[in-house]
Amino acid sequence: MRIAVIGAGTMGGRYAARIASGEFGADLELAGVADLDLDRAEAVARPTGAPAFDSAEELLESIRPDAVYIATPDAHHRNPALAAAAARIPFLLEKPLATTVADAQAIADAAHAARVVAEVNFSNRWSPPFIAAKQSIDRGELGDFVTLFARLNNSIGSPTERLAWASNTTSAWFLLSHCLDLAYWLHGRRAVSVYASGTRGVLEARGITTYDSIHAIVRYEDGTDGSYESVWVLPDGMPAPVEFTFRYVGSEGAATIDTHQQNVTIATNSRLDYPATLNWAPQRFADFTAAVRGEREPAVPLVDAVENTRILVALHRSLESGAVEPV
Ligand SMILES: NC(=O)c1ccc[n+]([C@@H]2O[C@H](COP(=O)([O-])OP(=O)(O)OC[C@H]3O[C@@H](n4cnc5c(N)ncnc54)[C@H](O)[C@@H]3O)[C@@H](O)[C@H]2O)c1
Repeated sequence: MRIAVIGAGTMGGRYAARIASGEFGADLELAGVADLDLDRAEAVARPTGAPAFDSAEELLESIRPDAVYIATPDAHHRNPALAAAAARIPFLLEKPLATTVADAQAIADAAHAARVVAEVNFSNRWSPPFIAAKQSIDRGELGDFVTLFARLNNSIGSPTERLAWASNTTSAWFLLSHCLDLAYWLHGRRAVSVYASGTRGVLEARGITTYDSIHAIVRYEDGTDGSYESVWVLPDGMPAPVEFTFRYVGSEGAATIDTHQQNVTIATNSRLDYPATLNWAPQRFADFTAAVRGEREPAVPLVDAVENTRILVALHRSLESGAVEPV
């Protein structure tokens, strides 16, 4: 299967290398790479021998790949996704689906009309601890859903050094999109309202105009709720750049997940570290290519990702208004 990559930044660069190396499947080939910045596309494509392009449309027309992985910045998913749908090429799009409900719906509608396999990369659904929790919930062991708490934080190097467009997004779009999707996957309830509060100042002092932290309480259709935290200014001296804890509480039991320690702690006289051990991206990608081949249904239907964008749009309205906002 010939896979192309659109957006040759951090994620696109990594995924292109993993497709080309065979890590994502021995039968996958990197067919081409596109980025508005041609130098970037070439830097990613050159070591693999794949062609580089400076637009998604040109790549799609020239090489007609079997599928594309799209990893453009959060607010720029619409154009490449609509181009893939128009060319009837299946796509795996990075999260969040879009940052407006209109864009999210336009992408979902275009994929539906073109009858192409289209998924959003809510990759944490493939994280082994979350799969174990989901299996326990589905077996009924935890009873009825009551409430949940999710914390997904980054050290400050994420918005200040690793992400060039941090001013054009928030930790809620970047991080809480994962948590809100996991919650929806685990309990299946639609959100009805959200209250959010955020703090600013540390990142603004560094010229990055976004929130330092965001807390949100989401109320679901049956009166249950969830509490969400994303902090983007933890010190770079933290043992790991990502801190992720999640607790699902049911009437008969609870699942508590902590992925940030990676099941291992390495301590020396000068440092404490959690080296990365959890690696679920290959299985996630394999399930996408299996859906493209018609061997399984898409694992993350776009309708789930539209729900995710609806909650996040209301969350950002609440951050501005200070009021509880309907979803
Ligand atoms: N699934 C995950 O766990 C995960 C992790 C990190 C980031 N992400 C998501 O991946 C996406 C990309 O993030 P990143 O950190 O790689 O960003 P990045 O800034 O490193 O790379 C984005 C690239 O897209 C290019 N681009 C922008 N618009 C384009 C267009 N219309 N056509 C072609 N190229 C275009 C930019 O020039 C840039 O090179 C974001 O939506 C982000 O939220 C997902």
